[in-house]
Amino acid sequence: MRTVTVTAPSGQYPVRIGAGLLPSLGAEVRARTGASRCAMVSGENVFPLYGAAALHSLESAGLETAALVFPAGENTKSLPCYGKLLEFLAEKRFTRSDCVIAMGGGVTGDLAGFAAATYQRGLAFVQVPTTLLAAVDASVGGKTAVNLPAGKNQVGAFYQPALVLCDTDTLSTLPARELNAGYAEVIKYAVLGDALLFAVLESHGGELSAVIESCVRQKARLVAEDERDLGQRRLLNLGHTFGHAVEIHSGGSLLHGEAVAVGMAMICRAARKRGLLSERDCAAVLSLLREYSLPTETGFSAEELYDALLLDKKFYGGKLHLVVPRGIGRCEILPVTPAELRDWLEDGLT
Ligand code: NAD
Ligand code: GLY
Repeated sequence: MRTVTVTAPSGQYPVRIGAGLLPSLGAEVRARTGASRCAMVSGENVFPLYGAAALHSLESAGLETAALVFPAGENTKSLPCYGKLLEFLAEKRFTRSDCVIAMGGGVTGDLAGFAAATYQRGLAFVQVPTTLLAAVDASVGGKTAVNLPAGKNQVGAFYQPALVLCDTDTLSTLPARELNAGYAEVIKYAVLGDALLFAVLESHGGELSAVIESCVRQKARLVAEDERDLGQRRLLNLGHTFGHAVEIHSGGSLLHGEAVAVGMAMICRAARKRGLLSERDCAAVLSLLREYSLPTETGFSAEELYDALLLDKKFYGGKLHLVVPRGIGRCEILPVTPAELRDWLEDGLT
């Protein structure tokens, strides 16, 4: 088993990564939270596969359990589902000394985390990620949220879990497309700050738990430095700025990781055209994305993507912060004006 410790200003916690960890969930939850009752929140695809093993482990450790299972999909990250979860906690008389466990992908983690942050002003929260994306990104760092019709993640809280337990065996049932979408985020970490990881991915080598550990270590460093996402943590948005615009236009036909892959390819092409990224490194990123069956092109025009960005993204002092790759394992944040942004988008398309 591998452990990465996240030391955020609001709390320190271990991220356990390895095969066969689910049977230790109960003992870990007890040790980390001291709770004697827990609410298991999961999704309709995940609970039938791993619910019984998780509940067995919790009950064997002496925890009383109650489970609530939501439909799969982004629509579950909504105010109605959030309300349903709060009412479930109240009905079952959960209190601040109990705990909420999210077992599933980023949708489950974001919803359950926000409920844990706000029900009775906060009770202990544990993440059991079962997608690669949740393992390397969503389960670590304390961002929790639900969506509004007006946009994604519009209501949320920074709320760190007490424990993240990633049993890599659970990733074996992920559909290939979801696994590859998770690899888009893994490639993001490699381009951002880990040339060694990039080489491992190129060779399709490396144990999955070692790959996840490298990503989580990098995220843990950024979260420790900037828990509230005011500076360096924004580096994690590599590929996400243009990717998000592509995702909005795709109307749900692209997974988040696939849109991020397109966004990464676009920012690499634009950086290469400006002489900020070498031809060779740009080609290496594009080729690695394709190796993992990820898209690198979009049919949307710069104009369409620009309009989505203007509506959706935060501008700080009139500028949008682009994360620009300068080499494999090296990126920087570059503030650009709306007019410059249009040129970056145009350059990123081809
Ligand atoms: P997801 O939670 O929708 O899961 C993807 C699909 O895989 C779902 O259909 C789910 O039922 C299924 N699934 C999950 N685990 C499985 C398993 N082990 N076997 C078989 N099927 C399984 O998607 P995701 O990519 O994990 O997360 C996306 C969400 O995460 C988005 O809402 C995004 O905004 C959020 N996110 C949050 C953060 C954060 O820091 N909080 C970071 C990145 C993304
Ligand atoms: N997913 C980006 C972050 O946690 O900041």
